[in-house]
Amino acid sequence: FSTKDTLLTSVQSPIENSGNKVTVVGVGAVGMACAFSILTKGVSNDIALVDCVADKLQGEMLDLQHGSGFIENARIVASTDYAVTAGSRICIVTAGVRQREGESRLDLVQRNADIMKQIIPQLVKYSPNAILLIVSNPVDILTHIAWKISGLPKTRVIGSGTNLDSSRFRFLMSQKLGIAPTSCHGWIIGEHGDSSGKTHNGNKIAVWSGANVAGVRLQALNPSLGSKNDSEGWGELHKKVVDGAYEVIKLKGYTSWAIGLSVSALCKAILKNTRTVHAVSVLVEGFHDVKEEVFLSLPAVLGENGLTDVIIQPLEDSEKAKLQKSAQIMSEVLKGVKL
Ligand code: NAI
Ligand code: 2OP
Repeated sequence: FSTKDTLLTSVQSPIENSGNKVTVVGVGAVGMACAFSILTKGVSNDIALVDCVADKLQGEMLDLQHGSGFIENARIVASTDYAVTAGSRICIVTAGVRQREGESRLDLVQRNADIMKQIIPQLVKYSPNAILLIVSNPVDILTHIAWKISGLPKTRVIGSGTNLDSSRFRFLMSQKLGIAPTSCHGWIIGEHGDSSGKTHNGNKIAVWSGANVAGVRLQALNPSLGSKNDSEGWGELHKKVVDGAYEVIKLKGYTSWAIGLSVSALCKAILKNTRTVHAVSVLVEGFHDVKEEVFLSLPAVLGENGLTDVIIQPLEDSEKAKLQKSAQIMSEVLKGVKL
């Protein structure tokens, strides 16, 4: 008898299936920030990692496993073979190239679309009931491509979208007001990318009419909020949201922690069926008079079956026009992608 057999008198076999398995494809800066945040925030204790670079993958897996003494019952596996992902409830895709300084998110489109073609069929093969959560950029375009390739219903393919931008906005609100970001309610919707160019503040839409603290609308206190005539400079917050990623990329080469935390919040909503509202990239055709079949972010309710509801905010005409313009650009970009 081995030491193990002597120590343990088996009464029944343990259950292997945690019921909350999450796969992360791509173990770069973003994928590992997602995995780390999911594990340390107790969103899931069952993680499968996949990457095409075997050594790096093995190294990341071991490094995380070595910390599992500090995480309850963690199960961390990794392989270049997608069989390791079988039975996942969520598959997060962060694989692909990222922007170098001076590149926009849209510059990455064909390279990352080709990577989706390799990854998505494998994920669906091993986890046909999973929800796909796309993070790779340009996220709105790649979510559309992943949806098409996967054959899954639109409720089960979601892009991380402007959940991150909304968090950046709330942080900046909190700095200006001196209160916690969680008490600052503000939404960035539309495109996570920047199709109209940085100088036009992109097509990330700050919904100024809804920004509030404790139900007090800031626009009721300052009717010029966010506009050019606003002497308090609230519009600067929007500019900082648009420039935020570029600033971080210039300083440290990539963004990682904020997107990791943002993705882990989305996973929590799905795995724990919280039915919380998040700005995520969903099929927006038919909402706000958008005519194109494209993905953009709107506030959406998430639960264990993915997307259940979309919230239609009362947008100003200029905000609606931006959303529609962005949809047209997304549609044009999609026409140029070879699948
Ligand atoms: P990275 O270069 O650090 O990691 C990318 C990983 O993908 C690498 O480990 C690489 O080996 C792997 N990979 C490449 N091709 C693959 C394939 N065919 N199969 C499996 N793995 C593959 O890049 P980083 O910084 O992690 O960024 C990843 C993506 O996330 C980029 O597209 C970036 O723009 C995007 N991103 C999106 C954000 C969002 O808010 N949606 C925020 C930050 C980054
Ligand atoms: C971000 O916004 C680059 O999309 C990435 O952090």
